[in-house]
Amino acid sequence: MVRLFLTLSPAISRLNIYPGTSILANSYSLRLEKHHKLKTETPTFSLISPSSSSNFLRTRFYSTGTKISSLHRIENSNVDDNLVVLGIETSCDDTAAAVVRGNGEILSQVISSQAELLAQYGGVAPKQAEEAHSRVIDKVVQDALDRANLTEKDLSAVAVTIGPGLSLCLRVGVQKARSVAGNFSLPIVRVHHMEAHALVARLVEQELSFPFMALLISGGHNLLVLAHKLGQYTQLGTTVDDAIGEAFDKTAKWLGLDIRRSGGPAVEELALEGDAKSVKFNVPMKYHKDCNFSYAGLKTQVRLAIEAKEIDAKCPVSSATNEDRRNRADIAASFQRVAVLHLEEKCERAIDWALELEPSIKHMVVSGGVASNKYVRLRLNNIVENKNLKLVCPPPSLCTDNGVMVAWTGLEHFRVGRYDPPPPATEPDDFVYDLRPRWPLGEEYAKGRSKARSMRTARIHPSLTSIIRADSLQQQT
Ligand code: KG4
Ligand code: ZN
Repeated sequence: MVRLFLTLSPAISRLNIYPGTSILANSYSLRLEKHHKLKTETPTFSLISPSSSSNFLRTRFYSTGTKISSLHRIENSNVDDNLVVLGIETSCDDTAAAVVRGNGEILSQVISSQAELLAQYGGVAPKQAEEAHSRVIDKVVQDALDRANLTEKDLSAVAVTIGPGLSLCLRVGVQKARSVAGNFSLPIVRVHHMEAHALVARLVEQELSFPFMALLISGGHNLLVLAHKLGQYTQLGTTVDDAIGEAFDKTAKWLGLDIRRSGGPAVEELALEGDAKSVKFNVPMKYHKDCNFSYAGLKTQVRLAIEAKEIDAKCPVSSATNEDRRNRADIAASFQRVAVLHLEEKCERAIDWALELEPSIKHMVVSGGVASNKYVRLRLNNIVENKNLKLVCPPPSLCTDNGVMVAWTGLEHFRVGRYDPPPPATEPDDFVYDLRPRWPLGEEYAKGRSKARSMRTARIHPSLTSIIRADSLQQQT
């Protein structure tokens, strides 16, 4: 049978204003019945392309005036269609919310970014970021519901990122999620931010089933994991100091680029003008036979190259002379090439390790903000194809932080019964929220133990995998 592949960007709305939300009460036990009703009232399919090889159909929806690509499960479609989850994400500098249906249909996606703050402080300042989240969170959530044409009463659950991330910022999202859940008797799903980056790939790729590999690359993380099943990961590699996104951000700042969209896209754009072999940077950790990363040294090499060329970051690239601009572009391109070479080398080894552990792996997911980079995608696609695997990269709007990935991960856990009962409608002021700023995703693979700085110095929460394993053992006894 014919299978059509349609990838269209979900709508994202960027906001600056913030009215309050209204609050109503209803009953948790009536929820499934309500969703059934909801489904029959809102037919959304405009095109269906059947596939004989799997129990998924890739479909295109026209929902709330927006074109989006998504999946439709044939089996259990009633059950899945009936679930509707609100996802809330505030772990770093984006305030995001989205409503996603169990069949993968994205009903709405809203993001309020802190672009001006980023540019003003040259990076994320936790206190200012917290205040910015607090200013917009009500409006972002309300807008996500409005765009989905739903109210809180139509939801099956609320999913929220509880870590890893900045505690001050995480708190704003968790507080909001608990307030919605408490007032509308909704269960809550606590979501691991990095698991969400990985699992959102299952919303866009019909064939992506466990086990699979994932490279998760963002501003704070550089993780190579083997996903055995939902909630169960082996960490093959991590960064011993900085993540690649941090290196992109600093390079952009020192090159005097416009970092309002974050540093990565600015470096990627300027790199197109440069000669990627003109500045000699060393590939980090070349002789370490593991899958760990390091970007602190490359950052220093970039800074030294910038100083050597007497580039003044205070002079924006837009006002630079031709020669100055070319120097900056050469550094951007050379940095990007070596930063990605480091990813390529470690991914090659990690795929070998993963195939030893799980020979049935067919896919490698590359997700997180840096996975929006076209050069990253191209180079990693070559590596992955050489190993006879298929690369799965979510569209850029689902690679950078977003509410859809949280809602979708919430749906995945909700389906298997991993959620908390609704919180009370009002919580005491001194209520201690479960926030996990440093929260590993999986247990470290013995062959690839890292001396990660964060592992050595921080108070760390037990990994998601160890918590889920302990829970299942408890249920068996
Ligand atoms: O996943 P994400 O949105 O937030 C975190 O969890 O950190 O990732 C943000 C990071 C930033 O460092 C940003 O510069 C980087 O992703 N990034 C990119 C690109 N788009 C975003 N890096 C390189 N190229 C891009 N096109
Ligand atoms: Zn992220």
